[in-house]
Amino acid sequence: MKTLTVSLPGRSYDILIERGLLDRAGEHCRAVLPRASKLFVVTDSTVGPLYGARLERSLTAAGFSVTVHTVPAGESAKCAARLAQLWEAMMGFGLTRTDAVVALGGGVVGDLAGFAAATVLRGVDFIQIPTTLLSQVDSSVGGKVAIDLDHGKNLAGAFWQPRLVLMDPDTLDTLPDATFADGMAEVVKYGCIFDRPFFDFLAARPSRAQLMGEIEHILYTCCDLKRMVVEQDERDTGKRMLLNFGHTLGHAYELAGHYETWTHGQAVAAGMVRAAKLGEKLGITPAGTAEAIVKVLTPLGLPVEISCTAGEYTAAIGLDKKGAGADISVILLEELGRAVPHKMPKADLLEELK
Ligand code: NAD
Ligand code: GLY
Repeated sequence: MKTLTVSLPGRSYDILIERGLLDRAGEHCRAVLPRASKLFVVTDSTVGPLYGARLERSLTAAGFSVTVHTVPAGESAKCAARLAQLWEAMMGFGLTRTDAVVALGGGVVGDLAGFAAATVLRGVDFIQIPTTLLSQVDSSVGGKVAIDLDHGKNLAGAFWQPRLVLMDPDTLDTLPDATFADGMAEVVKYGCIFDRPFFDFLAARPSRAQLMGEIEHILYTCCDLKRMVVEQDERDTGKRMLLNFGHTLGHAYELAGHYETWTHGQAVAAGMVRAAKLGEKLGITPAGTAEAIVKVLTPLGLPVEISCTAGEYTAAIGLDKKGAGADISVILLEELGRAVPHKMPKADLLEELK
């Protein structure tokens, strides 16, 4: 088993990575929750039928009283109405402040269940069992939990660190190729911003089968990099912003496709290439960097260019928002493996993107 510890004052926690870990979830939950008697498991309509019974069996064997609450699969579950349903169901189950919430699923379930845990009874313990590649390398680590509002994604939320993160790489076997590729966009991002040798390692493994052959190392490397960032900047006021490489422009592409044509990972993939090209044009990023990123993303089936109007770029950059500030920090690469924030007037950025 690979183990990492996220060290934060008064709320440190372990990330455990091991094939088959789902069947041993109970003993690991018991170790961090010695006083809990009830666990409220949140999952979705795809993940529940695949893994819910196995998890329930393991938790029950460890002496917990368990209920499994299933929300519909998809981003639309991350909403205020579902959150309110969760709160009521938790009270109906008799959850107390010494009990805990468990998220079994992708980033949607983790964000929703995490925000419910952060808010019910003014906050109860929370355990993440992420089952998508994206949630294993990104959303389950670092304590950001949220729901979406009509005004946009993740607009209501909290920082609420889990007590434990359990990753069973075998759960990735049932992911559709497109969902696996989505997660790979974030994996490649870690190589681009922090770790050139890791980028080269990924470049040498262009197929899903090759990547799955090394999945524990991949999960460990990404989580270790995220651990380092979160330890230095839990509240996202400095270094954590480097994780946004490819995301500002990716947001424009998600907008351009009305959040339907392009998934988040696809938009981030194209956003990273566009940001590398921008950096090259500004003389910050060495020539050839965008091409190197394209070579890694293409075999994964990720788009490397998405067309976008000036209006969509304007909306994503926030140039149209009154009082939003005239400057923006774009994350650029000084070289592959080293990201820097680059502050520039939004109007100049827009001009460069034309
Ligand atoms: P998701 O949770 O919607 O999962 C994608 C799809 O895969 C869903 O249909 C789900 O049912 C299915 N699925 C999950 N696990 C599966 C498995 N093992 N086998 C088969 N199907 C499975 O999406 P996601 O990409 O995991 O996460 C996206 C969400 O994460 C977004 O809401 C985003 O805002 C959030 N996010 C949060 C953070 C954070 O720091 N909190 C970071 C990045 C993204
Ligand atoms: N996914 C970005 C962050 O956790 O900060």
